[in-house]
Amino acid sequence: MHLNVFTQCSPSPQFKGLWRYPGDRTATGYRSLSHWTDIARRLEAACIDALFFADVHGVYDVYQGSWRPAVRHAVQIPSIDPALLLPALAAATENLGFAVTYSTTYHQPYECARLFTSLDHLTGGRVAWNIVTSYLRSATANGLGEYLDHDVRYDRADEYVAVVRALWERSWEDGAVVLDADADMFTDPDKVHQIDHKGEWFEVRGPHQCEPSPQRTPVLYQAGASPRGTAFAARHAEVVFLTMSDPAAGAPQVSGLREQVAAAGRDPAAVKVLQGGMVMVGATRAEAKEKARLYNELWSGEGQLAKWCGWMDVDLAACPDDTPVAEIAAEGSKSFVGFLRRLGPERTWTVGDVRYLVSRPRRPRREAPVTLYGTPSEVADRMEEWLEVAGVDGFNLIPCPPSAGVDDICDLLVPELQRRGLFRTSYAAEERTLRERYFGAGRSRCEVP
Ligand SMILES: Cc1cc2nc3c(=O)[nH]c(=O)nc-3n(C[C@H](O)[C@H](O)[C@H](O)COP(=O)(O)O)c2cc1C
Repeated sequence: MHLNVFTQCSPSPQFKGLWRYPGDRTATGYRSLSHWTDIARRLEAACIDALFFADVHGVYDVYQGSWRPAVRHAVQIPSIDPALLLPALAAATENLGFAVTYSTTYHQPYECARLFTSLDHLTGGRVAWNIVTSYLRSATANGLGEYLDHDVRYDRADEYVAVVRALWERSWEDGAVVLDADADMFTDPDKVHQIDHKGEWFEVRGPHQCEPSPQRTPVLYQAGASPRGTAFAARHAEVVFLTMSDPAAGAPQVSGLREQVAAAGRDPAAVKVLQGGMVMVGATRAEAKEKARLYNELWSGEGQLAKWCGWMDVDLAACPDDTPVAEIAAEGSKSFVGFLRRLGPERTWTVGDVRYLVSRPRRPRREAPVTLYGTPSEVADRMEEWLEVAGVDGFNLIPCPPSAGVDDICDLLVPELQRRGLFRTSYAAEERTLRERYFGAGRSRCEVP
């Protein structure tokens, strides 16, 4: 089983209002190195695959046409750039992987290639790139280019991935760096090539700025679940994150994705599928209940609305309650509409439903959609069900509360999974890169065609 822990360098990653959770360290720790090195060491002691950082550009200003609610409730603002943390986290650990979210819409591919090769060198081959197309229009107000419609962003991303992979994989041959002091030749120029890319979106000549890193191409993560996002994942991704409501409803989504991977000419087993969701674990039922009570008490409905409106690119405050969600023409993320359709296929979901779902605190329950909640044994039971019924390869755990939840994963949940033989008790010495951890020793290079 593969386990990632998902977070962000922000005071209240994912769950709005939870920065106030008593004793939680994220509210101020997010901007301190020791906070993150401490988390990285804990995750490594628990043999976790990777620490995965979200990232956005722009402010959530769609709800009520203002960024004030987002700023007030720390909706991914303030935040700092996670890529900068990686060398320090790599120095504090030996095996843990690191995934950084990086936008194909708001960066140039040449910069992206240089950044990820640098990170792969500095971490010794432990890096993944979470490929996102971004949804916040507000980024364009900061000189980061123009806002593109949802599917066009993915078209551009297709070309983007081709460019960066060409820089990573075709520009420098193996053995190009000869370090031949007698011949006064550091690099053999015959083994370094331009990529001469001229496409619809990009013109990149190359050569790549960096010599090849251990993985050359970082492990490619992707999480878009709209039809266009799924087609993109089937073509490019090695690890895909799905947010499915429950194991039985998720099974066809997982098999559908694997069918699309096969249709794209790839081995369906060459894509690892991870279910993502909140995990809240208590040593006892009473402890779990107390955490759930606090979660409800601290929940910020307004913060959550600000986040969802920005994510969907729809101001739910400005739409009449009875508007069917499927009829809203928005260019943000489209996966939520699909999520609702799968959650209640017979229902006409309206704006009022979404506003209620998003803003109301929902006390975590064992059977609640997406959530992993309860004692270690209850959560492990549910995870086993996900593995068996939905056919996922693992989980992208979103700890709740944000920092103390990491402790609960490491101290309570992982030992239970290890006791059941479901999770490794040590890292395999021969799997030196992050890609090898997913696909086996000797497979450090990206095999996506
Ligand atoms: C687990 C997970 C993590 C994500 N992390 C980010 C992120 O950090 N930044 C971002 O801009 N989008 C993020 N997204 C959004 C998606 O990757 C995707 O770009 C968005 O949902 C729009 O695509 P879609 O309509 O195909 O879903 C994440 C989604 C999931 C499920």
